[in-house]
Amino acid sequence: MSENISNPTVASSPTTARSGAGANIDTNHTLVELSHVEKHFGRLHVLKDINLKVTKGEVLVVVGPSGSGKSTMCRTINRLESIDSGVIRIDGEPLPEEGKDLANLRAEVGMVFQSFNLFANKTILDNVTLAPIKVRHMDRKDAEDLAMDMLTRVGVESQASKMPSQLSGGQQQRVAIARALAMKPKIMLFDEPTSALDPEMVNEVLDVMIELAQEGMTMICVTHEMGFARKAADKIVFMADGRILEENTPDEFFEHPKTQRAHDFLSKILTH
Ligand SMILES: Nc1ncnc2c1ncn2[C@@H]1O[C@H](COP(=O)(O)OP(=O)(O)OP(=O)(O)O)[C@@H](O)[C@H]1O
Ligand SMILES: [Mg+2]
Repeated sequence: MSENISNPTVASSPTTARSGAGANIDTNHTLVELSHVEKHFGRLHVLKDINLKVTKGEVLVVVGPSGSGKSTMCRTINRLESIDSGVIRIDGEPLPEEGKDLANLRAEVGMVFQSFNLFANKTILDNVTLAPIKVRHMDRKDAEDLAMDMLTRVGVESQASKMPSQLSGGQQQRVAIARALAMKPKIMLFDEPTSALDPEMVNEVLDVMIELAQEGMTMICVTHEMGFARKAADKIVFMADGRILEENTPDEFFEHPKTQRAHDFLSKILTH
């Protein structure tokens, strides 16, 4: 791992003072805004009057029980899922329904999933250069320089010529982060990026995320990693049954949850 990756112990230390992007936040610049968003899957009402703002440089952590709509909410933000009503704006622009405008806006939002979704038949370098070449129309040499910078940033530059199957899960997930960063997104969405990893690889991914937060990246992270949430989040959103029940600073959320649902959720998750 390269030297720019911080101390791997920090991510698992829930008592460490929060060092999130706080200082980088520009509260006048809203990058993501969900307004009265509703979504059904058939008869199942999965998102209920979701209202949310994420400003530039802010790190939002989304927590909540399984099935509460966290992934669906993330997926609506880059239009992997449509919504029934309401408005989603990315940097002030309403999310287009389809077409070139949608592709352009989607490129502003980097997404990292639980499963790494790397192309198995392409090298690590090719995985990272693909979108900059196809979507941003970069020439190959520039795209490769950019890809190497991003792979260096996440500490896997020495793996560039390998195939995904030759890397550990933690390395593959860091490549997935590098691939998203290569598009120079305005916002990064993470949906449980460490939950498919072996325990010893969780921190190497969380450390990269903490570094991104500290560098001022705007981030929305769904995670069960409460140590990370305490350390990196500027704001915690708690979802249950398709609704946002609480929105608060990490200290307030963890120390003084306002709802019984959040209290029950925390007592379950923190006793493990
Ligand atoms: N494509 C789909 N079709 C039908 N129902 C879906 C679909 N995707 C999700 N759901 C349902 O919508 C609800 C919200 O799911 P979602 O995946 O957003 O929850 P989550 O909070 O991310 O849960 P988890 O913590 O388990 O990942 C669940 O009841 C789920 O079964
Ligand atoms: Mg989910």
